[in-house]
Amino acid sequence: MNDRFTLERRLPRDFFDATLRADVLQGLAEPPRTLPPKWFYDERGSRLFEEITRLPEYYPTRAEQEILTRRAPDIARATRARSLVELGSGSSRKTRLLLDALTAAGTLQRYTPLDVSDSALTEAGEALGRDYPALRISAVVTDFEHDLALTDEPGPRLVAFLGGTLGNLDTDGRTAFYGALRRTLSADDTLLLGADLVKDPAVLVAAYDDSQGVTAAFDKNVLNVLNRELDAGFDPDAFDHLAVWNTAEERIEMRLRSRAQQQVPVKALDLTLDLEAGEEIRTEISVKFRREGLTAELDAAGFTVRHWWTDAAGRFALLLAVPSR
Ligand code: SAH
Ligand code: AVI
Repeated sequence: MNDRFTLERRLPRDFFDATLRADVLQGLAEPPRTLPPKWFYDERGSRLFEEITRLPEYYPTRAEQEILTRRAPDIARATRARSLVELGSGSSRKTRLLLDALTAAGTLQRYTPLDVSDSALTEAGEALGRDYPALRISAVVTDFEHDLALTDEPGPRLVAFLGGTLGNLDTDGRTAFYGALRRTLSADDTLLLGADLVKDPAVLVAAYDDSQGVTAAFDKNVLNVLNRELDAGFDPDAFDHLAVWNTAEERIEMRLRSRAQQQVPVKALDLTLDLEAGEEIRTEISVKFRREGLTAELDAAGFTVRHWWTDAAGRFALLLAVPSR
């Protein structure tokens, strides 16, 4: 640890506990049962996600890396960013391409990674601190759906939201997110957004149901989080992991299907869940985008798309957008 790396916990101490309780009461108590995907990412979940990014079936990370490798110098030239703010930064592995380009351009002073995962921010921040000795790294543990306000980052600011995490929000969630982001950005700031694209459903399903079972372990990890944080009694082996392509909504849905009729206590909430055999809990959506639709929803939210780049195979898009009004 060094004094150029700081980690701030910006939300009130009980925020995550209160939100988890509310999410479980609201989403799990009655069918249709759902959980927000942010609860995957405790220390084990963050590690499993990193493993997912290296799986042969999970193409998004490699596709986005390919685009960043080619376009990072263009991004540095177009933005001349003094701060890079990254939402849902995880391991910050691909971010190094941006940090390198912005450092080479001579503009970068500060990197502000924001994530719900304390452990991911600490690991990434310590490694980056060693490798970028001139950079100030101000990590923030927060929930980007509740707290997007940037603080004293010097502008112009480049706000990166990579990996396709935008797709983990539904239409209402994306509208709220764009609104909050638009309110916090100044005229000379830029948004860099990674978005996974609609493609052959077989390729998509394989990416979310890999042959080694890493995604299944990641999906079931949310049950371990509930067991630990809410004194729940889930047996992860009593559930099957499913990845389903929802054609109408153009999204992958990850679900956990109960193998048998079972009762699961959630002691901290004084709640017992009655699950039928075959009943499902939807644990994540991962929306896949088309250029026209994503450009239109950004436009409606006050962003103009200036650049749209894809990998050579056209699987994933990286776009640069600026506030339009
Ligand atoms: N950007 C990285 C990591 C993507 S995984 C990449 O492209 O590989 C999604 C990341 O977003 C995780 O690190 C997770 O902890 C974080 N995350 C998920 N929901 C979040 C939320 N509501 N607020 C802040 N971070 C969140
Ligand atoms: C973080 N997010 C973009 C990943 C995705 O592809 O939706 C999470 C993930 N879920 C299963 N595999 C990866």
